[in-house]
Amino acid sequence: MNSNKIANPFVIGKYVSEDYFCDRSDETVFLKKQVDNGRNTAIIAPRRLGKTGLIHHFFAQPDIAKRYQTIFIDIYATNSLSEFVYLLGNSIYKEIKPLHEKWAERFFGTIKSLRPGFKLDAATGEPIFDIGLGSIEHPQTTIDEIFSYLEAADKPCIVAIDEFQQITNYPEKNVEALLRTKIQQCKQTLFIFSGSRRHLMNQMFNSPSKPFYQSVITTDLKPLDKVVYTAFAKKLFADYGKTISEELLKQVYDDYEGVTWYMQMIMNPRKGITASWNPTR
Ligand SMILES: Nc1ncnc2c1ncn2[C@@H]1O[C@H](COP(=O)(O)OP(=O)(O)O)[C@@H](O)[C@H]1O
Ligand SMILES: [Mg+2]
Repeated sequence: MNSNKIANPFVIGKYVSEDYFCDRSDETVFLKKQVDNGRNTAIIAPRRLGKTGLIHHFFAQPDIAKRYQTIFIDIYATNSLSEFVYLLGNSIYKEIKPLHEKWAERFFGTIKSLRPGFKLDAATGEPIFDIGLGSIEHPQTTIDEIFSYLEAADKPCIVAIDEFQQITNYPEKNVEALLRTKIQQCKQTLFIFSGSRRHLMNQMFNSPSKPFYQSVITTDLKPLDKVVYTAFAKKLFADYGKTISEELLKQVYDDYEGVTWYMQMIMNPRKGITASWNPTR
């Protein structure tokens, strides 16, 4: 544990570091193996078990961070291919800056359709990217350009698309076929799809009539192991000079059926749920 302790070690809704992250070592090894083999993966599991956390944890592994450019987008709130393209373009702009100085030129040289969003900050002279959603007139063209940019990046990219089943709600036709084709053509870009809607995800990846059929390795995510999670929680209490009985931890696990989000919430009284018990008293 490093010395920069955060106020409450039971982190909710973001990934801080492995110090505050429980286990998932098998899953991390699994993802690494798929990436090493050049395979795309889909993680399918109910909400709040830890899919998003696992992806961030995987991206934070030193050898992954060193070898790859990693991009994460959560498309849960998107409602069209244009919004998808907008989010992806924005995230790539923020994350994938080529090593040479004139990266903005390269970005907008390849992704020409986003050039209208490129401005120079009047105060600092720094390039800023400020594109309105309405500027994406031809999402398919922008998608083509974005994929060209990814494929030409200095390091190979891993793109994680969270809540991927959302693309089935887009009004545009053939979105699945379009993305499948683009993804299939990639030579140095890998993808991790994750989704909470099992039925939709299964349909997309496991039904023969669908474009993504058998194009990825699918895996599910089980709740964290009870012994492992209770040991993790106990250690974090100890690191913060507090004690808690193992029985109480096991009861929390059982009460919430090992669902990570609920357990973390209970352990994090500052976030509101409990406050009724305080392990120091
Ligand atoms: N292995 C873990 N150790 C500690 N906290 C975790 C772990 N996995 C997830 N969390 C936390 O649990 C909550 C739910 O996880 P999340 O990854 O958002 O689930 P999902 O994406 O499956 O809905 C989040 O607050 C996250 O920070
Ligand atoms: Mg999630």
